[in-house]
Amino acid sequence: MVDSELVRLSETAVRHSDCCLSLSTTLLNAITLFLDVGDSTGADKLLLSIGSGSGLLEALLLEHWSTANSELYIEGVEVFQPGSSSASQLLNRYLPEPNYSTVKGTWDLSPRAVEATALMFVYPRSPDLVTRYINTFARNGDGILQTVLWLGPKCDWSDFARCFEGIQGWKLRLADSKQTGLVDYEMLAVIHRQV
Ligand SMILES: C[S@@+](CC[C@H](N)C(=O)[O-])C[C@H]1O[C@@H](n2cnc3c(N)ncnc32)[C@H](O)[C@@H]1O
Repeated sequence: MVDSELVRLSETAVRHSDCCLSLSTTLLNAITLFLDVGDSTGADKLLLSIGSGSGLLEALLLEHWSTANSELYIEGVEVFQPGSSSASQLLNRYLPEPNYSTVKGTWDLSPRAVEATALMFVYPRSPDLVTRYINTFARNGDGILQTVLWLGPKCDWSDFARCFEGIQGWKLRLADSKQTGLVDYEMLAVIHRQV
């Protein structure tokens, strides 16, 4: 069950207690642009957000794309919370149930990634988890995955950069706060599969 109203964003980044990342309409547009790169299929495209937390950013993207009549759609993945009674877990407050699923533990990979054309990690905690997703679906994947986004504080990038380096057939791009509408100390990294 979704129990929270979405915040109204402006072009300027603001902090919200339900999301680690600063939020703005500029950010929603930047993420949308990064996901549209290289698209020519016209087919629906799933962005799977690993570690979606409250689901606020994801619900804002869902709303943004529904009003733009986009082919993009989003699902969030979180760790199952023991003691919760339904598929809508305590952490998720914004995403509707069809757009949300859980994994068994912090070590677990979501089976939904098989269907994803893009993965997103927002303030992830574990470089090993990111590496395992990339090894499974980018390095050794069968070609469905096209894009992986990492968004977090610049000070964390040195720990995560190695997850994204040296992947044959993929190109890494770093975008700063001016391009992405984030606050100064945050950044976005993206890898795209080269056709
Ligand atoms: C620092 S929080 C960031 C939450 C959210 N992205 C945000 O920016 O507010 C990291 C999240 O990753 C989740 N997480 C950890 N391991 C995970 C896994 N294997 N699959 C999905 N989520 C995971 C945690 O439960 C936690 O909510």
